[in-house]
Amino acid sequence: MAKNDVFDAPTRRRVLIAGAGIGLTVTACTREADQPQGAHGPAPHGVRQAGVTTPQQATALLLAYDFDPELRGAAGVRALKAVLGAWTRTLVERGSAEAALITTVGIGPRLPARLGVPAPAALRELPPFPGERLDPARCGGDVLVQLCADSADATEAAAATLTRLAGDALRPRWRQAGFLAPSPDADGAPRDLLGFKNGSANPTPEECERWVWTGDATYLVVRRVHLRVEDFARLSVHRQEEIIGRRRADGGPLEGGRDAPPHSHVRAAGPGLDAGARMLRRGYSYADGPTDQGLLFLAFMRDPALFTRVQRRMSAQDELSRFSEARGSAVAYVLPGARPGRPLGAELLG
Ligand code: HEM
Repeated sequence: MAKNDVFDAPTRRRVLIAGAGIGLTVTACTREADQPQGAHGPAPHGVRQAGVTTPQQATALLLAYDFDPELRGAAGVRALKAVLGAWTRTLVERGSAEAALITTVGIGPRLPARLGVPAPAALRELPPFPGERLDPARCGGDVLVQLCADSADATEAAAATLTRLAGDALRPRWRQAGFLAPSPDADGAPRDLLGFKNGSANPTPEECERWVWTGDATYLVVRRVHLRVEDFARLSVHRQEEIIGRRRADGGPLEGGRDAPPHSHVRAAGPGLDAGARMLRRGYSYADGPTDQGLLFLAFMRDPALFTRVQRRMSAQDELSRFSEARGSAVAYVLPGARPGRPLGAELLG
């Protein structure tokens, strides 16, 4: 099992609100149950959105919407409240436990100023990075939705419902589907298109309290990373392992636990060069035709500045950069969860 499969601690009250093709899982946590004590104790919290620390499902669909540019200030707040209210109500009212579909909603960096509401502290655009080749049509968005389910049919049906409910206020900007190929391994850990186990070195639940959540919210960084899969596959296994910094067979550390080679991915990306800072990666593979496949990198963290630092180190020293190229990018503030009488966005929009 990948480490992030252990997150649904038995102390959490898991409420599944799901319906005809669409659903919202709310993980309600009691203060006592969810507060490991320590020097950096987490802020008290109520309800968080699912789709962050919940186990990954087989498929994901990332939706990015533009908010109607005519809608500003109080009129914009009303319109967005109406959409988020409708999304929450529909998910709740059509509820049934059968659809294992998880919806996670966030807002992009331009939106708070347009609405005249206080911006979440760490919400800002990512800076440009060397080596990326971003397509503006696959970047940004005022509202981001991550849909995860066991089948692409379920995410597609949910996307259609959400878009319909958004009316004219939200216009689809871009979308990206992702999948986890069935694991060939006994432990069920997913492998990326380069053939390595991906996501196994994720933070523990306690580390997530410290590094992923900020109160009931978090931040999502999305990168659509094109991979030169065939060039990488032509390398010897030994060379591939040097580049990633892990054994291909089982994801274990190289050379009996010694440090990863200095130019390896794990060395550049790992917490060792960043005072222990962690992010929770929840990536999927994507395949859009024979010449464009790669990693739909999805990572949650309490401050996207960590992504910036890691990506800069990767650009400077990580040999994996020679086999990868970011073509899409977005960042979002993942709203606190909905609960009865308090729809998504209530904390932000008042
Ligand atoms: C270019 C496509 C990428 C591929 C194919 C890839 C693959 C991997 C693999 C195979 C591992 C080791 C297994 C694991 O611990 O999950 C790993 C670890 C990691 N990657 Fe990536 N990755 C990519 C991009 C990125 C990006 C863009 C970032 C963030 C800027 C990132 C951050 C990390 C982190 C933080 C770790 C854990 C390191 C540790 O804790 O030791 N990766 N990645």
